[in-house]
Amino acid sequence: MESVTLFAGTANEPLAAAVARELGVPLAGRTVQRFPDGEIAVRLEQSVRGREVFILQPTSPAVSDHLVELLVFADACRRASAARITAIVPYLGYARADRRQGRRAPVTASLVAMLMETAGVTHVVTLDLHSPQLEGFFRIPIDNLTAVPVLCAALRPRVAEDAVVVSPDLGATRLAAEYGQRLGLPAAVCHKQRTSGTAVRVARVVGDVRDRPCVIVDDMITTGGTIAEAMAALTAAGARPEFTVAATHAVLVEGARERLAAAGVRELFATDTVAQPAGGDPAMHVVSVAPSIADVIRRLVADESLHALPSLAYA
Ligand code: R5P
Repeated sequence: MESVTLFAGTANEPLAAAVARELGVPLAGRTVQRFPDGEIAVRLEQSVRGREVFILQPTSPAVSDHLVELLVFADACRRASAARITAIVPYLGYARADRRQGRRAPVTASLVAMLMETAGVTHVVTLDLHSPQLEGFFRIPIDNLTAVPVLCAALRPRVAEDAVVVSPDLGATRLAAEYGQRLGLPAAVCHKQRTSGTAVRVARVVGDVRDRPCVIVDDMITTGGTIAEAMAALTAAGARPEFTVAATHAVLVEGARERLAAAGVRELFATDTVAQPAGGDPAMHVVSVAPSIADVIRRLVADESLHALPSLAYA
């Protein structure tokens, strides 16, 4: 792996360190400073001329700061004559802004894709994009992988045989089908309406949930509102009040975990695409995607297909 130069942004240094350990390479030297006015300054502490460079930086909260940091990293690598610049963005923020929400509104996800390309990124690797069609905003290659296989491996021993996989909204239906297929469980779906950035309402549940424990799955949890609403609707529809939740990206803004605990979530499974503080309620099982990301890097360096990657490819 001598040919790999892996930079860690500041958004998730533990994940970058774990990936570097898996690869058996040191993280590349860099300095990231934040000036008193909020500006970000990045300096590469080693040459990248002609190198295959990877920058690991989820654009998790603070989303805009981490995005700009990623862009600045890419710009530094491009100006220092890196051969290829792959942005590994395990969680891509602004992904929900994938269409105009009414008149005079932006499509910020499209803007983010353009900014990355302009900054010099030549390839993007991400996990469980909010919607797969986001790939269309990128003109550079993008590999959208999934954490469902590694999450299912963790869930399998803890899920009852009569459980049902539930998508908390129509958007996560494909994800729920993937979980259902891998866990050998049926799937149900909630019909959610978002009433504001922080409030949602579940109008109805489609599928047989009566007297069954539920495994609610989503690409991301931010405030916990979607999950809490789904649980209330599932309880009203007769589901057994035993709720397990699995999400690729536990963004979990302040108050979200308390909200999930208060709603009665028994166990929460998520990956480490977003750095997590230790402890807290509900019990959280964090599954690392570091070994899978290391595999991805090995394959990209060798120009091998990612499709054959068992741990991160869609079934
Ligand atoms: C939305 O469509 C997403 O898939 C998630 O359901 C949503 O972003 C979760 O946000 P929150 O936890 O704030 O309800």
